[in-house]
Parts: sequence; C-alpha cells; structure tokens
Amino acid sequence: MTINKVRALGAAIAAIALATAACGGASTAPGSAGPTDAAAACAAGTTKIEVQSWWTTGGEATGLQKLFDQFNKDNPTLCAYNAAIAGGAGTAAQAVIKSRTLAGNPPDTFQVHMGHELLDTYVNISAGSVLSPLDSSIIDPSKFPAGVVSIISGSDGKVYTVPVNIHRANELWYNKKVFTDNNLTPPKTWADFKTVADALKAKNITPLALGDNGIWATGMVFETILIGELGANGFNGLWTGATKWTDPKVTDALTTLKMVLGYVNTDHSSLSWDQANQLVIDGKAGMTIMGDWANGDYVAKKFADYGWAPAPGNDGIYQALADSFPLPAKAPDQDAVKKLLTFMASQVGQDIFNPYKGSIPARIDAGQAVSGVLAYNDYQKSAMVDWKSDTVVPSMEHGAAAAPAWKSAVEAALTTFVTGGDVAATQTALVAAATAAGH
Ligand code: BGC
Repeated sequence: MTINKVRALGAAIAAIALATAACGGASTAPGSAGPTDAAAACAAGTTKIEVQSWWTTGGEATGLQKLFDQFNKDNPTLCAYNAAIAGGAGTAAQAVIKSRTLAGNPPDTFQVHMGHELLDTYVNISAGSVLSPLDSSIIDPSKFPAGVVSIISGSDGKVYTVPVNIHRANELWYNKKVFTDNNLTPPKTWADFKTVADALKAKNITPLALGDNGIWATGMVFETILIGELGANGFNGLWTGATKWTDPKVTDALTTLKMVLGYVNTDHSSLSWDQANQLVIDGKAGMTIMGDWANGDYVAKKFADYGWAPAPGNDGIYQALADSFPLPAKAPDQDAVKKLLTFMASQVGQDIFNPYKGSIPARIDAGQAVSGVLAYNDYQKSAMVDWKSDTVVPSMEHGAAAAPAWKSAVEAALTTFVTGGDVAATQTALVAAATAAGH
C-alpha cells in the first residue's frame, strides 16, 4: 500500500468518524473463557494486567500468549493475561468491554478495532474520551502507515490506541486437494464461483463453508460482493454518502449474495467461523470466505493443504482492519499498562504475535523473524506484498468503515435476508440504515 493510498483510506475513514455519533456495540453472548481462570496462571505477588479480548481459538489465543510470555519474562513483577470472552468478531466481548469502560470500571486494556469502533465508542464522544492519549514513548506514529495513524487518532489529533496487526478481510480460502481432485481453480468472478460451486455440489461437497452463528460472517461475504460490484471507490462511497444504497449495483450485490447463500452448509447458522473453517480442513467443504485469522487457524491446526485468493471480484483490493489496545483513563495500573502497550507497539512484540495470529504487522519496520517463535508463512509474505501494492478499503464488519450502530442495522437487515431472501425489502432496510447514520 502506498503512503498516498494509506492517506486516502485514513482521510476517508477519519471523515466518517468525525461525522458519526457514538453508538452501541454487539450483542449475542456465546459464553466466557473466564478472566479469573486466566489470571490464576499469574505468579503470586505479581501485578496482574487484565487484557480483555475475544481471542479464544488456537492461533488467536496462542499469539497473544506468546507476546505475554516474552513481556512477563522481561518484566517479572508484572503478569499480563488474556481475559477472553468467546464469540468471533467480539459479538459478546465488545458489549462487556463497552459497558465496563463507559461505567469507569475498565479492564487494564482491551481489544478494539481501529476506526469507528474505537473513535465513536470511546474517544470522540460527548462526555470526553474515556481513553488516555498515547505519547511517542509508547507508540511512535512515524513507524506506522499514515492512514492507520489517522484512524487511531482522535479529533484532537492525538493517538489513542496501539494497532498490533493488519488483518485482511476479503480473502477466499480453499482446500487444495479438493480443488485438484476436481480440476478446479479458485473463482475470479461470482459467475466463476457458481461454476465451481456447481461442480463441488455435484460431488456432494459443500461449496462454501459458512459459520454465521454471528451474522457478521455473512456480512463479510456481502462486503466482498459489494467491493466486486462497486470497486474500491464505489465501496468506500457507501460509507461516506458518495455512493447511494439505492444504487442498482447494491441490488445486484444482494442478488449475488442470495445465489451464494444457496451453496453454503445447511447448518451455517449454528456454526462459528472456525467450525466452518474446519469443514474446509476436513475436505467436507471446498471454500470459505473469511479474514486471515483463518490463516492462523490453519497454522494452529497444522493444516498445510490450503490455498488462498482474493474473494471473487476483489483482485487488487485489500480490505483491511486492525486489532488494537488502548490505555483506559481509569485503568487500574497505568504504568504497567503503558509498559505492555509499548511492547505491543514494538517491532519485536509485533513479530512475536503476528505469525501465530495469521495477520501481518501494522508497524512498518516489522515483518522479521524473531528467534524462538514461529516464522511468517507464505500467505503472510504474500499479504505483506499486497498490503503495499493493493488499493486499501476498510472493513465494515470489523469496525473500520462504519459506526457500530450502522453496522448493527446492516446486520439486522442481513439476518432477515438470510432466511427470507427478499432483495427489494433488504435494500430498503439498507437504505434506511444509511439514512439513520446520516447518509
Ligand atoms: C478480529 C480478529 C479475530 C476475528 C474472529 C475479528 O473481529 O479482528 O482478530 O480473529 O474477529 O474472532
């Protein structure tokens, strides 16, 4: 990604951030891994740093733990631990984190996406930021892409969080053996997708694995279809008002989504994203469309026979999001949290974490091997190249493109669509969601 492209992304998202009001997070709660249990692993007498995340699966939890292992070793009086609340995309964690933080009882730090989720919920809010700005002793903005810096900065121009990674959202993953056995190649268009899907279906293989027990997974598929229909500029315009949701291309995108939903596993609404990914690993499904935390999942499960490609119609476009960690103004132990955030912002911290997580580092000078930990794999090496050359667009489902309330309204429309399939009524609901968000 060139600096200009990063700036363009940042400017676009920052503009939306300033224009949109603070709003609520997500809802359903599949359960908690239990912060108390995680804290129990800390040695007696250490100062515990409660880090609230939604990372519970192999690659996610392991990456964070490896980062903590090094930090806790370097700081023997401190003990950072993962107070995880299960639920992909933060469906359960975000609501807990938000209510604790706005009530003045925050975790020491927490997982939050760069962009609207961060800025509209915690920073640019009428009561004043509940997070403290981070000075350059914690995070040096010159070491991060300008576009990223712009959407982790408040309306006062100060940086409010430490991005630990860049995830790509618009990726198609496939089982190589299934594709080879059936003489298939990854689809480049949605018309190709239909051809590939029909071939798989004829062999009783689920064409596309979907785990939308959180509707966000369907939302991600819809976003990739919108990107393909509208192109990068048109897609960005959906979130700034420049592209109208009444556009016939949105109608076409919904029609395509309906076609795609005809090729998913019948139990999709009861599966999580990683359970759907397991169908690909097991060869029961040919493909899935998911963020590159799927790459971390394959690595954690020691599954090597997977391939990847941009989702159909998404070639040359990198749909991005970042996980980040801020300093709550009321964090119990400010100095301890500052130390942890400094490590998270460092080259070494990012290069310990990301190989497991499946993502690439946010820090410009990271992307190097650290001895004693996993090396970046071929997918990640290709993603580092694409991040520099592709056109970058933000993810709606993962907090970058739209305010949380707008995201929830889109998700409500899609929840009805998944079962009802009414294109016209869904487009009307999407238009209403944009209007309610001020566009
Ligand atoms: C987060 C990823 C996480 C994924 C699945 C996304 O919202 O950014 O870090 O792996 O959700 O839970």
